[in-house]
Amino acid sequence: MRHESKASSAAQTSQVDPALFRRTMGAFATGVTVVTVDAGSAIHAMTANAFMSGSLEPPLCVISIAKRAHTHPMIRQTGRFGVNILGADQEDLALFFAGKKSLDVEARFRRFEDTPVLQDCVAHIAASVVNECDCGDHTLFVGVILHMDVSDRPPLIYHRSAFGALAAIKGERVPVPEFW
Ligand SMILES: Cc1cc2nc3c(=O)[nH]c(=O)nc-3n(C[C@H](O)[C@H](O)[C@H](O)COP(=O)(O)O)c2cc1C
Repeated sequence: MRHESKASSAAQTSQVDPALFRRTMGAFATGVTVVTVDAGSAIHAMTANAFMSGSLEPPLCVISIAKRAHTHPMIRQTGRFGVNILGADQEDLALFFAGKKSLDVEARFRRFEDTPVLQDCVAHIAASVVNECDCGDHTLFVGVILHMDVSDRPPLIYHRSAFGALAAIKGERVPVPEFW
């Protein structure tokens, strides 16, 4: 199912300075994931920080993939993707799957049934595409979560175009409404 929108034409008419856009978006600290997908007989992977939780009921997540990324047609073709949340010690994997293939990295994969995932990350999600939304030069893929697992390892952080780790997290949990 595809959800086309006016996003592409709106972006063409916008006057936003690309450097300001990148600086502004870069002020938003995120974790780092590697999106995994079947590519015929091989497994393909790319680094992505545009990942978010979508819904609890049904369980959905969202990734934003550049239309010119090799991963994009593969997700459309297979209708499946894995999301692997990287640990603070996995910067090399983030660089490798962002295109720095000269790095000496050994990536090991396993399967959550029909979906490939990386081994030994903070968390692994296997999802099946249930919707997609045009987002200018990207597509938002909405996936229903089929399997997931998580550990307590500290995550890799991305902020202002640099990798880092969490400096301090307050122990006190933030109260959230039940529907969230
Ligand atoms: C920290 C980081 C986060 C990234 N996040 C995304 C993202 O969310 N979506 C995207 O399309 N590309 C993102 N990229 C860029 C892709 O990883 C990069 O273009 C990659 O080479 C695409 O691989 P492919 O062409 O093999 O699919 C990110 C890169 C880095 C370093």
